Amino acid sequence: MSKLYYPNKELAKKANIKSLEEYYALVDKASTDYEGYWKNFADKKIEWLKPYSKVLDESNKPFYKWFVDGKLNVSNQCIDRHLKDKSDQVAILFEGDRGDVQKITYQELSKNVNKFANLLKNEFNIKKGDRVVLYMPMIPEAAYAMLACARIGAIHSVVFGGFSAEALKDRIEDAGAKLVITADGAYRKGNPYLLKPVVDEATKSGCESLEAVLVVQRNNEDIDWKEKDHKYNELIANQSSECDFEVMDSEDPLFLLYTSGSTGKPKGVQHSTAGYILWAQMTMEWTFDLQEGDVFWCTADIGWITGHTYIVYGPLAAGGTTVMFEGVPTYPDAGRAWKMIEEHKISQFYTAPTAIRVLHKMGEDEPSKYDLSSLKVLGTVGEPIDPHAWEWYHQKVGGERCPIVDTWWQTETGGHMITPLPFATPIKPACATLPLPGINAEVIEKDGTPTPKGEKGYLCITKPWPSMIRTIWGDDERFKKAYFGDCVKDGEPVYFSGDGAMVGENDYITITGRVDDVINVSGHRLGTAELEAAIAEDEHIAEVAVIGTPHKLKGESIFVYAVTKDDANIEDIHKHINQILARDIGNIAKADDIVAVPGLPKTRSGKIMRRILRVLAKGEELTQDISTLEDPTIVEKIKEVLL
Ligand code: WTA
Repeated sequence: MSKLYYPNKELAKKANIKSLEEYYALVDKASTDYEGYWKNFADKKIEWLKPYSKVLDESNKPFYKWFVDGKLNVSNQCIDRHLKDKSDQVAILFEGDRGDVQKITYQELSKNVNKFANLLKNEFNIKKGDRVVLYMPMIPEAAYAMLACARIGAIHSVVFGGFSAEALKDRIEDAGAKLVITADGAYRKGNPYLLKPVVDEATKSGCESLEAVLVVQRNNEDIDWKEKDHKYNELIANQSSECDFEVMDSEDPLFLLYTSGSTGKPKGVQHSTAGYILWAQMTMEWTFDLQEGDVFWCTADIGWITGHTYIVYGPLAAGGTTVMFEGVPTYPDAGRAWKMIEEHKISQFYTAPTAIRVLHKMGEDEPSKYDLSSLKVLGTVGEPIDPHAWEWYHQKVGGERCPIVDTWWQTETGGHMITPLPFATPIKPACATLPLPGINAEVIEKDGTPTPKGEKGYLCITKPWPSMIRTIWGDDERFKKAYFGDCVKDGEPVYFSGDGAMVGENDYITITGRVDDVINVSGHRLGTAELEAAIAEDEHIAEVAVIGTPHKLKGESIFVYAVTKDDANIEDIHKHINQILARDIGNIAKADDIVAVPGLPKTRSGKIMRRILRVLAKGEELTQDISTLEDPTIVEKIKEVLL
């Protein structure tokens, strides 16, 4: 086994989970009395407006219900209940792209969110259960908007600002959103960019449910004002800073977040109120060991689940100080992130392996120019980290002092599932280690038998957990099929993550990556089906197969096998395909490679064998039996093209 890094004993004394013994004691509690285990935390952590009558209702599997009949409000949980003793503490520390800083206290956050909530009610008649789409840059108003929705019981659906007009339109329509909240633009790498024109494009036709667009003027750009548009900056001034919160049921949806799956269009992952906020808060306290006075920085965008749970809901529910950054860590230079850590005395830094690889490449010794002694815990998320990037992060950023939590989880899980605890778990580089107490993560075969140690199997969660996905918006059947359709244990369908994993020594779990047709580019999930559907729009393409192939910086990149109809120039096709992908999905979906092939490896039933294509793209030897292919000679023909 590779070297283990043991927790610092001094720091462990004050930690929220202090030792591996304490970890195993919690695991034991959860295994002997699962409901009692969760009840204990739900009672301690949540401010209930009305107590729940039952911890877990399993009568309609897999539509599990948690904390049945309980009443609460997430904005109360994140703001109001902290006002007694934290009103002057900074809740959101915002740094703009150009270095402008805003420190928003809990008191100010409360007022801003209340005003926003009143605006939604008074001007747009937004009510409990209405869907509101946010297409926002990383500015405090994005967080206010999310919390304002939570306050009045509206369901937000944040769409990442890098998605195209087409992608935005699909999401507005699928959710039946009544309102879109956006900004004129924001700043990136020193320059203003525009967001509002994308909303104009998305909403110029269709979007039947949409009544209005609310525009925050971040950079006062000269944009087109349409009939449906309303100016936030003017309307907000008249709103009262008092607003009662809606009493919500534990199981009322808190938000939707669209994510890619292995088939069809993106899925609106639906999260609940009580279970989600409980786990967001608990994981914040456990995984990052959040303590009084800490300044927590997660570099994700609020358009992803990481931004939801670890920029907004987790840190605020836990009463912490959360950093929100508009810019990119490489501007104006590779020292930006390290400078921010020094200036704001940041104690936890949570980012994606892609960012670590890029920052490493830009400056091996850059971090040492800054005082990073405030750092206590480092984290990674979104994709596997390679040992090389891990070592640099550990040595140069963490000064060999900070534990690195490699957190495995998904949009669907709501919060962390498998991760080291920074002051309890001996850390193995590039390994997610152990499931959090209460989380039954297992590596099994499809029939539920445990996969032997050291071999790859299916990563499943074999018991429901509070922050799990409740359904796919408007499509219960797809929810069942996508997550509970592949693996069973003891005859019961169990949640399958779509990831492969391996159990090793000490029962440590290593994630080996997606085993379904989803690829992970710079930590962004993209479905091959979605990509192929877009690419097939190119008139020269007869057939197409997309795979992910290893990429030095991005983790994986998009590799396209195309069967062309004519002898059109493949470089021209490549350019055109990238235009289509940018239009239909967004700039995150760029094909790095394309090859014209005479055909695709298919089974006799017509299924494309992407596994074969993956092996061939890497230039590896094929060990798989190809005799079952419709045309086994195609493999040699593809190899010739790739040479
Ligand atoms: C991958 C992001 C390896 C995995 C929170 C998962 C990881 C997908 C890790 C979810 C990790 C996430 N190590 N792979 N620590 N964390 N993944 O929904 O394939 O954007 O299924 O959620 O990212 O991506 P999503």
